[in-house]
Amino acid sequence: MLYQEKHRPQLHFTPKENWINDPNGLVYYEGEYHLFYQRNPHSNDHADMHWGHATSTDLYHWEEHGIALAPDELGTIFSGSAVVDKNNTSGLFESASGGLVAIFTHDGESQQQSIAYSEDKGRTWIKYEGNPVIPNTKIKDFRDPKVSWHEDSKKWVMALACGDHIQFYNSPNLIDWTYLSSFGKEYPSHIGVWECPDLLYLPVEGSSKKEWVLIVSINADGPNGGSAVYYFTGSFDGKVFHPNEKPEDALKWADAGKDFYAAVSWDNTEDTYWIGWMSNWQYAGVMPVSPWRSAMSLARKISLYEKDGNLLLKQTPVIADNRKEAASYQDVTIQPDTAESYAISDTAQIDLRISEASSSTKWGVKFVTDQEEVFQLAIDTQENTYTFYRTEGMIDFSEEFPEEIKGTLNGLDVQNLTAIVDRSSVELFLNNGLTVSTNLIYPQGTVTQLEVFAVNDVLQIDNVSWTQLKSIWN
Ligand code: FRU
Repeated sequence: MLYQEKHRPQLHFTPKENWINDPNGLVYYEGEYHLFYQRNPHSNDHADMHWGHATSTDLYHWEEHGIALAPDELGTIFSGSAVVDKNNTSGLFESASGGLVAIFTHDGESQQQSIAYSEDKGRTWIKYEGNPVIPNTKIKDFRDPKVSWHEDSKKWVMALACGDHIQFYNSPNLIDWTYLSSFGKEYPSHIGVWECPDLLYLPVEGSSKKEWVLIVSINADGPNGGSAVYYFTGSFDGKVFHPNEKPEDALKWADAGKDFYAAVSWDNTEDTYWIGWMSNWQYAGVMPVSPWRSAMSLARKISLYEKDGNLLLKQTPVIADNRKEAASYQDVTIQPDTAESYAISDTAQIDLRISEASSSTKWGVKFVTDQEEVFQLAIDTQENTYTFYRTEGMIDFSEEFPEEIKGTLNGLDVQNLTAIVDRSSVELFLNNGLTVSTNLIYPQGTVTQLEVFAVNDVLQIDNVSWTQLKSIWN
């Protein structure tokens, strides 16, 4: 039965069948969050790209709709964004209160930027007859326009991925675009191409400040190999992005796991939310699932947190469920080289709060299946690292899949951990989401057990709990 297959995510968006990749056209409009996405409606491979479509009222339960944008004589439909043209700046709408405009890449003989508009809440789209609105400029990789309204200059601003840099453009009407500036050639890494940029203006937690953040997805050379998302903080004056980071201290990973890519934010929301594609170009095409291929991450609320003058991205997963805590334990003490075990399900949220009095600097958690496969998170606060072991289960479909996936704790002691387990993925949020790692797993069995272990010294836990999360498809 659909949505009941062995590795089918129960808490994450997947299409009923066939291929998806990047989230596209994320926009909130008249009570609905729209999730468009790269879509091959005909098979389980990356080919013949369309935009698929789903909507949600809570960023958690999704309803899949039909194809939104299909290929035409200018090419297939690559990634892009959508905005609410509230004041009908484009003049494309009959009504003065406008509607939705999608800005996307046509991938044909070359890559060019085009637009389409919808007068029925994103269900059907009319392509603008003057497409492309930004013709190709001989740059081979010229794609993934992310557009938002820039209040100070009263213009639409576009960030565009151009191989080894990001270009910025602006427009009064979403049709006539002016090149503004370029950023990034001198910044690492250029082993893979830059893709799917986003320009965000995010609140700094605990202050009234807001700061600019430039998101870039790089399709190779991530911290654990392959694709990954990183970010710069800085300022944006409507024309030029000025980074805080110098080239030698750049590369702040939004998510240091192997399976969080092409993440972009929703337009037209008060708080900022984003979502990523839960895969990696290293093995996206051979993942052992069908009749669908691949999932989105959970949507996450994002903000900034300042630590010693350094701005870090903070992410909180959105789980809009009637949640029922299944079990909760207070004041747990774990002796060195021992573990506590708890029965859990394979669609679960685990929350762990470490006591300030705890002295263990090496500890972790294991997710164990009924076939004794182990997926382990090991924390080493002295080394300032963590490692997620994805070396068991089905791993031989790609040499790049089995991995000890490492990340930095950003110089923070670990105070808490939230882990979302969903059959074939584990999303780890350490320290309230200042350190995040998203990873797919393909166990032969079913996760049934959580083990919390201490390696050195006593691990003192204030609270460990798990919550059973119901399938979003029922
Ligand atoms: C990122 C990406 C984009 C492109 C799309 C094609 O994963 O390569 O740059 O627009 O996928 O499906």
